[in-house]
Amino acid sequence: MENQQDNAAIEAFKEVLQLDPGYLGAEANIGLALSNLDKHDQALEYFRNAYEKFPNNATILVSFGNSLIRNNKPHLAIELVGSYLKAHPYNVTACSFMAHALNEIDDEHLVAELHDFDSFLFKTNAAYSSAIKNADAFNKQCAKYVLKHPSLVNATTSVTTIKGQQTSELGTDPGSPIRELKKFIEEAFTEYAQLNLDGSRFPWAGCSFSDFSLNIWGCALDRGGHQDPHIHPNAWVSGVFYPQLPDIIGQNPHDNAGYIEFGRTEKRYFQSNEPRTRLIKPELGMLILFPSYFSHATIPFDSNQKRISIAFDLCPIG
Ligand SMILES: [Fe+2]
Repeated sequence: MENQQDNAAIEAFKEVLQLDPGYLGAEANIGLALSNLDKHDQALEYFRNAYEKFPNNATILVSFGNSLIRNNKPHLAIELVGSYLKAHPYNVTACSFMAHALNEIDDEHLVAELHDFDSFLFKTNAAYSSAIKNADAFNKQCAKYVLKHPSLVNATTSVTTIKGQQTSELGTDPGSPIRELKKFIEEAFTEYAQLNLDGSRFPWAGCSFSDFSLNIWGCALDRGGHQDPHIHPNAWVSGVFYPQLPDIIGQNPHDNAGYIEFGRTEKRYFQSNEPRTRLIKPELGMLILFPSYFSHATIPFDSNQKRISIAFDLCPIG
């Protein structure tokens, strides 16, 4: 069945190309269908053509790079993405893919520069925030606000959220704790932006919170729920806040259930090497900031208590 769909897609997009040779994504979609059919050498040529037509498109870039790796040409993938990053220095999709490509050639040193977890992961807690008077009460208020939010729906259309619900944008309507949470995020970001870190990977160094727009949404995971590895391609800095967690998190030192993990490769990429990752045990009231190109995932947990998080993106204005 899948083969039939891929073959049908190839024929359909070939017809599209005859009608409109400049149609965005036609060649790349043919490349994806050919990859699904394990015709990787043919797929590579379609991705190459797609990238020649749309050299600024990061999604096509990484599809082409992924196909190069699949065809045993990881060094060419690194060269390709390296030259793209010279023109687009902090493209989140390209930075994330670069870390993956470098891992495929076992360049531990350069992977560690991009995935510098020690320096670039920033943790704090609502208990330390001057914006929050009572952290325990605040956490409960935030959890309740997410669970009662009218936009909370099963994340059936999400590619990465499994067995959970997600809200749309959370507001600062009267009674909402999100106003305080935004102040807490501002405090944390201000401290984060003052860290003395490499500017090419940390372009928000010295920026102020008002240089960014803030998008913020809630996520509630049920038993077995988790998020597959993903990035936030439209932001520079992303983060997560934990207002409610199942009691079992951290109880068994061997299973890492409910932890957040950074550095695992997105499922869409061909991978032959195990990546270098970092696990963090979430704690009530904890807030984590990280570069949006750090792919991140959560580990499934076994509990009837919900794991509630509030995620956010800081997107540069202008
Ligand atoms: Fe995320």
